[in-house]
Amino acid sequence: MAARVAPAAFQAGADPAAAYRRLSAAYQQTLRYAEDVKRLYQQLHRSIYQSLLGLANALEAKDAYTRGHSERVGAASRRVAVALGLQSQEADIVGQAGLLHDIGKIGVPEAVLRKRVELDDDEWALMRKHPLIGAQIVSPFEFFAVGTLTIRHHHERLDGSGYPDGLAGEAIPIGARIVAVADVYDALTSDRPYRAALDREAALAYVARQAGRTLDGRVVAAFVALARETPSADPHVGARPALAAWHTTTSR
Ligand SMILES: [Fe+2]
Repeated sequence: MAARVAPAAFQAGADPAAAYRRLSAAYQQTLRYAEDVKRLYQQLHRSIYQSLLGLANALEAKDAYTRGHSERVGAASRRVAVALGLQSQEADIVGQAGLLHDIGKIGVPEAVLRKRVELDDDEWALMRKHPLIGAQIVSPFEFFAVGTLTIRHHHERLDGSGYPDGLAGEAIPIGARIVAVADVYDALTSDRPYRAALDREAALAYVARQAGRTLDGRVVAAFVALARETPSADPHVGARPALAAWHTTTSR
């Protein structure tokens, strides 16, 4: 059996203190490399994410009525994800997907986005494509796979009546169930071309009524609890008279 040869640092006569310093220096260098790689990786993610934000801004330039909507849905989605106990990295992705949830509207004609009255069937068919278009836009980013699914399914409903896939219950990814609640609430409390904003209490009551029906009950409970904790979190809400159609078209 071949005798094992000790590294030079541990051979007889080697200075143990010097050997320890060399090993320690090598270890520190390795840690610095690992930190560099991690930093580069994070910079890369940030750059990609900022590019996507540019797209979100492009959408808001095209569809003025959704201005600010994306930011509010993103921020609320992240807060709810944290409240539900999702890990911080997962909560970040839910927040980012919330920010980008309507990015697919870039592929919807402006005449449809800006229409001031209810959409007809053909226009609805175009509008209903936006979750799929959005998912296609972000799908090349492999690290954002969970976000891609969240965007694709943000208009699914708990009872299976949503789109694009008619998923129901827990088959809908949790991120999409979270973004759905934040999206419906924000749409209700914002003026839209086809209806005026609801006040905060009416919107919270609507969301609460949908718990367990079209919206996830646990997500709604977390959302309402957070809204009660931070009443100043939605400063855009004004007490405007609601239009009769508000309950039929909550969010496009
Ligand atoms: Fe949407």
